[in-house]
Amino acid sequence: MTSPNQVTEQTIKEIVWRHPSAISLFEELGLDYASVPQRLFRDACALRGLQPADVLDSLKKLPQADPPAPFLEGIEEDQVGDLIHHIFTHYHEPHRKLFRTLEHALDAFVPPPSQEDTWHQLRLSALGLIEELQIHMMKEEHVLFPAMLAKVGGSTHQSGCPASMNPEAPMRVMEMDHAHAGQVLSNIRSANERMAGCSKSFQQVHNLLLELWQEVNRHMYLENEVLFPAFRTWLR
Ligand SMILES: [Fe+2]
Ligand SMILES: [Fe+2]
Repeated sequence: MTSPNQVTEQTIKEIVWRHPSAISLFEELGLDYASVPQRLFRDACALRGLQPADVLDSLKKLPQADPPAPFLEGIEEDQVGDLIHHIFTHYHEPHRKLFRTLEHALDAFVPPPSQEDTWHQLRLSALGLIEELQIHMMKEEHVLFPAMLAKVGGSTHQSGCPASMNPEAPMRVMEMDHAHAGQVLSNIRSANERMAGCSKSFQQVHNLLLELWQEVNRHMYLENEVLFPAFRTWLR
């Protein structure tokens, strides 16, 4: 790893890119690496009230032999189909399963009277985000991904999308969706932390909301920081 001073001046995106195992540590510490990837590492630490030197110490203790997370190092043109398949099988489909479990847990939980207001907002935010993401994933599966696959000469499966369609416009729409989802996820995470420990039965909802935050951020990171930039390079 580069010197501590150099690392603190790197963006959170660069650190995750070079050290994929940092993702788990950042998630554990609540360091947001996804919604503003251009944020400097030292600024991201300051937002969480963390000392960059302490986080770097923890980073150094991570196993160096960790295999890099798939595709985080970037992709070649002939890997677009593989990455889209990875996103579909590791994120879109599991998200749908998680959404169903989370909706049941949100319906079943009864908050203690002191937490009713926070809970009401948290529940509405989570249900709204689920609905938003369902539509978002459909748009990717039916418009953006087929357009991308058509551009690189891969199978478009459910096409309906002209091969000549430029993926730039749908990519921009998806990025706006991601930015909004990232903001809602941050609010959900804050409310989730405020409610942590409010009752024994909240633990299940708490864990599911953490999983939602983690998995959706990973998903958006792969699209925003790997798939879309690679595509823009080829479209030039
Ligand atoms: Fe996606
Ligand atoms: Fe997306």
